[in-house]
Amino acid sequence: MVAAQKQKIADFLDITTDFLGSGYKSEKTNYQFEDDPVPPSQGGADSLEQIAREIRVCRNCSLCEKRLNAAPGEGAAQPLVMVIGEGPGEDEDKQGRPFVGKAGQLLDKMLDAIGLSRSTNCYIANVVKCRPPGNRDPFPEETSACAGFLSRQITLVKPKFILIVGRIAAQAVLQTSESTGKLRAKFLELENNGIKIPVVVTYHPAAVLRNDEYRRPVWEDLKLLKSGIDK
Ligand code: URA
Repeated sequence: MVAAQKQKIADFLDITTDFLGSGYKSEKTNYQFEDDPVPPSQGGADSLEQIAREIRVCRNCSLCEKRLNAAPGEGAAQPLVMVIGEGPGEDEDKQGRPFVGKAGQLLDKMLDAIGLSRSTNCYIANVVKCRPPGNRDPFPEETSACAGFLSRQITLVKPKFILIVGRIAAQAVLQTSESTGKLRAKFLELENNGIKIPVVVTYHPAAVLRNDEYRRPVWEDLKLLKSGIDK
């Protein structure tokens, strides 16, 4: 069934419901169906909502085939810090939100320790928005298929700083093959859409959960980020 036919049925159901309820109302709702093509924002300004709509129906790589829900990103629209992780896991796939599982809970604590939170001054996103099956690392073709969404999110939220967690995200965003050990403990720079943004790389919270030895370096990286923020 094509989108126009589905919209007609949705309109009919709306009208019927309104007749049965409080009377006919003429405004109609434009529904977005999972398999509808989403037109790119037509000449108008881009928005986080538009990007999220495109991500939810995206079929640019095979990760779309097994996703329950894409997790586009969430947080403050004008954040001090944008946090970039690897990709949704099982919990994120179920909820359609980034970093909501065990690693996400630790990430929230890490951010809280330096006065940051997704509800006030952070925006959180991943390099891939759909869960790689079995939590495998995303393939390079999957991170590049998703790169345009991340770049548009960065352009829109204009973070003062970016915190990248984990090797996969760091390598994809910074276009490098260096290890986290080599990239961390210093300020780097990302140029996105002509704007330069200071970046700190640290270990992924899931790695910290697996190995206590990462706790100290992660804390040092967070303090480094905080020193930049407080300057
Ligand atoms: N790990 C990530 O990198 N991102 C998430 O959203 C969850 C776990």
